[in-house]
Amino acid sequence: MSVAEPGRQLVDFVSEGRINGPDVVPYHADPYSTAIISGSTKTKKYHDNRSSEQRPLLGRSRSRNMESCSDSEYGSNVIDDPEFAAIIRSVEQAIDNGILPQRIYQGSSGSYFVKNKEGKTVGVFKPKDEEPYGHLNPKWTKWCHKVCCPCCFGRTCLVPNQGYLSEAGASLVDTKIGLNVVPKTKVVRLASDTFNYTPFDRAKARSKKFATERFPDSLGKHVKAGLPPKMGSFQLFVEGYKDAEYHIRRFESEPLPSATLHDFLIQFQKMVCLDYVIRNTDRGNDNWLINYEKTPEIDESVKIQGTEEGETGWDVVNSPKIYVAAIDNGLAFPYKHPDSWRAYPFYWAWLPYAKEPFKDEVIDLVLPKLSNMNFVQDLTDDLYHLFREDKGFDRSTFEKQLAVLRGQILNLSQALRDKKSALQLVQMPVVTVERKRFEGDDLHRNPDRSHSEAFTQSFQHRPPFFSWC
Ligand SMILES: Nc1ncnc2c1ncn2[C@@H]1O[C@H](COP(=O)(O)OP(=O)(O)OP(=O)(O)O)[C@@H](O)[C@H]1O
Ligand SMILES: [Mg+2]
Repeated sequence: MSVAEPGRQLVDFVSEGRINGPDVVPYHADPYSTAIISGSTKTKKYHDNRSSEQRPLLGRSRSRNMESCSDSEYGSNVIDDPEFAAIIRSVEQAIDNGILPQRIYQGSSGSYFVKNKEGKTVGVFKPKDEEPYGHLNPKWTKWCHKVCCPCCFGRTCLVPNQGYLSEAGASLVDTKIGLNVVPKTKVVRLASDTFNYTPFDRAKARSKKFATERFPDSLGKHVKAGLPPKMGSFQLFVEGYKDAEYHIRRFESEPLPSATLHDFLIQFQKMVCLDYVIRNTDRGNDNWLINYEKTPEIDESVKIQGTEEGETGWDVVNSPKIYVAAIDNGLAFPYKHPDSWRAYPFYWAWLPYAKEPFKDEVIDLVLPKLSNMNFVQDLTDDLYHLFREDKGFDRSTFEKQLAVLRGQILNLSQALRDKKSALQLVQMPVVTVERKRFEGDDLHRNPDRSHSEAFTQSFQHRPPFFSWC
């Protein structure tokens, strides 16, 4: 087969699992990825990775260095999403008017609640340079950890200091699959006096302010006063939510009505799909939120027809609504699977809800997409366009991240096809699916020379993490 038909399944492109050693299956890219190989506009973008550091981020009109924007003229965030852009503009105006972001004190790094000009919290901003690996992380605990115990610091399977991309990447995957459990998250730049800056940056900002005020007609026209904007992830704030831990404990003594439980399971399973695809290493029950108000709305039409006994039960009222929000996605997209020493399990796998087989609604939403090679290719291309903007972007590391992601997609598709549960999903042997391009002799040995790419599937030899608990 020379060209993949639209809708062709991902599983067609990799061999059936053989536990020992990789299988290589010739793969000919779909029309979209053929364009990548043959050097179309997309191809150029895909291979021209280092120069992209200087390219605009999310529609920026000017090139700029990602971490230090202090010396360049700073324009406002320009984002290809008008609603989101309006929120960011409002945040910038709020900051100008002295309504400053506030640090979230319980966090392990620099994270901030950000307000709009009406003073309402609208987002959570996490600057790149204040992440656990960032040089301006304001938290002493992380600093001590890094200095006193460097060998155990951080997660060796993750690319350091790219948490903000992981946050935005999780939102991208969520939107693309249509899961709708991650509050929208994008990469933006913000500056605020409440962020953690070096004394040098603060001194520079002060002298610029002095110079622009002193010489408004000369220097003031050319120098942008103020602290340098920081690059980071901005996640929309969701109101009325509490930590999942709180609600899950409550559900033990006050079980959910059946219709609400059904809704909850669907959203829970959507979050499972997200976490599994991006291989989130930090999904504790404090890193997802639930909005649940027990007060039911009375359904008048049902109430009129209701019987004496029925009037007090859930059958005469609309079942209460429940919503799940998967926040704190900064520790995902590993470039290798976690090892058995530090397995970073999905904590939801211990919940009773993980024993339920995947619901038809979830299967119908997710499976057609994930088993479509074109969809997966599109998804990985979008992630590439997001991740390449980081100063530390490395193409081969990114390919490894994609190999893990493709392996996770392969397993998840199989689990959905077999109507497994979330618990059974995490017990599947982990797999990576690497992309390999045939070149030179390899291409000659390949019986069908039109096949210039292949996917290599390999299983990792480690027991599923549930074996030790
Ligand atoms: N999008 C959001 N909407 C509403 N509340 C949020 C949102 N994001 C975070 N929060 C609140 O802020 C708290 C800290 O957020 P988060 O866990 O993302 O920060 P963090 O600095 O990464 O913390 P840690 O590393 O300790 O987990 C959360 O427990 C939650 O209560
Ligand atoms: Mg957290």
